[in-house]
Amino acid sequence: MMRFRLSPVSGSGFFMLFLLLGAVQAYPLKLNLTDLKNATCLYAKWDMDFQITYETTNDTYKTITISDPSSVTYNGSRCGDDHNGAKIMVQFGSAISWTLNFTKEVSHYFIDTISLSYNTNDSTTFPGAAAKGIVPVTHSVRFELSFDVIFRCNSLFNFSQESVVENYWDIHLQAFVQNGTVSKKEYVCEEDTTEAPVIHTTMPSPTTTFIPTSKPTPTPTVGNYTVTNGNTTCLLATMGLQLNITEKVPFIFNINPTTTNFTGSCHPETAQLRLNNSQIKHLDFIFAVKNENRFYLKEVNISMYLTNGSVFSVANDNLSFWDAPLGSSYLCNREQVVSVSKTFQINTFNLKVQPFNVTEGKYSTAQECSLDDDTILIPIIVGAGLSGLIIVIVIAYLIGRRKSYAGYQTL
Ligand SMILES: *[C@@H]1O[C@H](CO)[C@@H](O)[C@H](O)[C@H]1NC(C)=O
Ligand SMILES: *[C@@H]1O[C@H](CO)[C@@H](O)[C@H](O)[C@H]1NC(C)=O
Ligand SMILES: *[C@@H]1O[C@H](CO)[C@@H](O)[C@H](O)[C@H]1NC(C)=O
Ligand SMILES: *[C@@H]1O[C@H](CO)[C@@H](O)[C@H](O)[C@H]1NC(C)=O
Ligand SMILES: *[C@@H]1O[C@H](CO)[C@@H](O)[C@H](O)[C@H]1NC(C)=O
Ligand SMILES: *[C@@H]1O[C@H](CO)[C@@H](O)[C@H](O)[C@H]1NC(C)=O
Ligand SMILES: *[C@@H]1O[C@H](CO)[C@@H](O)[C@H](O)[C@H]1NC(C)=O
Ligand SMILES: *[C@@H]1O[C@H](CO)[C@@H](O)[C@H](O)[C@H]1NC(C)=O
Ligand SMILES: *[C@@H]1O[C@H](CO)[C@@H](O)[C@H](O)[C@H]1NC(C)=O
Repeated sequence: MMRFRLSPVSGSGFFMLFLLLGAVQAYPLKLNLTDLKNATCLYAKWDMDFQITYETTNDTYKTITISDPSSVTYNGSRCGDDHNGAKIMVQFGSAISWTLNFTKEVSHYFIDTISLSYNTNDSTTFPGAAAKGIVPVTHSVRFELSFDVIFRCNSLFNFSQESVVENYWDIHLQAFVQNGTVSKKEYVCEEDTTEAPVIHTTMPSPTTTFIPTSKPTPTPTVGNYTVTNGNTTCLLATMGLQLNITEKVPFIFNINPTTTNFTGSCHPETAQLRLNNSQIKHLDFIFAVKNENRFYLKEVNISMYLTNGSVFSVANDNLSFWDAPLGSSYLCNREQVVSVSKTFQINTFNLKVQPFNVTEGKYSTAQECSLDDDTILIPIIVGAGLSGLIIVIVIAYLIGRRKSYAGYQTL
């Protein structure tokens, strides 16, 4: 149901976080499954850890890292065959169970689905959890591999979903191993060949997208979103988006552009940009034209899954943000808040948007938000000072004149 692209975090970004937050212990998984003839049929080796955020009885949120190598079992792992897929199953005590399954086809196989579930009944791992129970998180990887290669990837794969962040790196993986020997031929992931080498001896902290409200929030990654009409680009948006939902369960959610899809539509008087990913069913930005010469953000609709599995939906079609003349774009580099409802706001970063009159797929001249413009602020302050001074002089003059006038009268 849910789908994730394999999308590692960029090397430099997580190196920074790694420096800031220090090394965290990782769990080094190593599994060499053999068949009845003692021949290797599945080989897996990587480092991983999980961060889980849960609500405690005293209304705070707590984030724990699971990387404890004690009491780990691999029960249920199997090689698979033509009828049954292969599986790697890992149990971290009773706190977490983790499964990766593989599907076999005739000429290739898929690294299929990662399913993780955590059990807040385990009070050693989840002390003071408000809700007791098993919480499942699933995502589809659907990565295709041929039988004669071993998959290798040093880069970090980071999945963030609801309250769980999963990190995997330094991966060596081959399922449905033929003839009992792990292949010498490697399939090196694209990320390793394009990105700067990353450290894989210690664990970086995650680039969390679920952040308890008490922690400082990292700014979201800026994404480019476009909408086309036929072959021509008709809407351009570049922005970092941070959702802030303040219901009973408050949370801040950074939109990761690499795992987010976008679509939309353009009409003469209205344009729509729709984002969606595994957590967000849809997030719509609807732009409209006013007074025949300006555009603005008129409506925002959102529907997304919350930590507890329920769906959060808000719509407001009476907004007025990002106002600029038609034929130009709207620019705001500083953080701006689009307040959609009492419980929902969107913080935007490095925003540039043009929903109408896009020519040649490029932004037109930008109208900048007033906040951005330091150069305008200074004249305003100076101007305000000057006009204040003028008013004082005028009043002084009037008082003076009245006095002398009064003086004449008494004479
Ligand atoms: C497989 O290996 C185990 C121990 O490594 C040995 O006891 C067993 O006899 C072997 N089985 C076969 C079929 O070779
Ligand atoms: C997992 O395997 C271990 C040892 O192989 C065993 O003691 C334990 O009961 C198993 N757990 C489950 C849930 O099957
Ligand atoms: C893999 O796991 C997913 C989720 O648990 C499940 O829906 C799917 O049927 C499994 N596929 C196989 C081949 O076992
Ligand atoms: C609230 O819970 C957290 C985690 O269980 C604990 O560290 C903290 O001391 C608790 N605070 C109060 C006021 O009980
Ligand atoms: C496995 O063995 C068969 C027959 O011995 C051979 O045709 C095939 O190429 C081998 N596969 C690999 C991946 O080595
Ligand atoms: C977005 O697109 C612009 C122009 O095409 C490019 O300069 C910029 O680097 C892109 N930004 C991102 C985050 O991809
Ligand atoms: C989220 O929204 C709440 C309520 O509007 C506000 O108090 C809080 O500062 C916001 N947090 C962020 C990071 O925008
Ligand atoms: C999930 O949390 C939301 C927000 O606090 C709440 O309105 C909703 O009732 C909860 N749903 C469930 C199933 O607990
Ligand atoms: C936004 O949501 C409202 C209420 O659910 C709905 O009436 C409206 O049609 C939606 N707008 C779009 C553009 O989907």
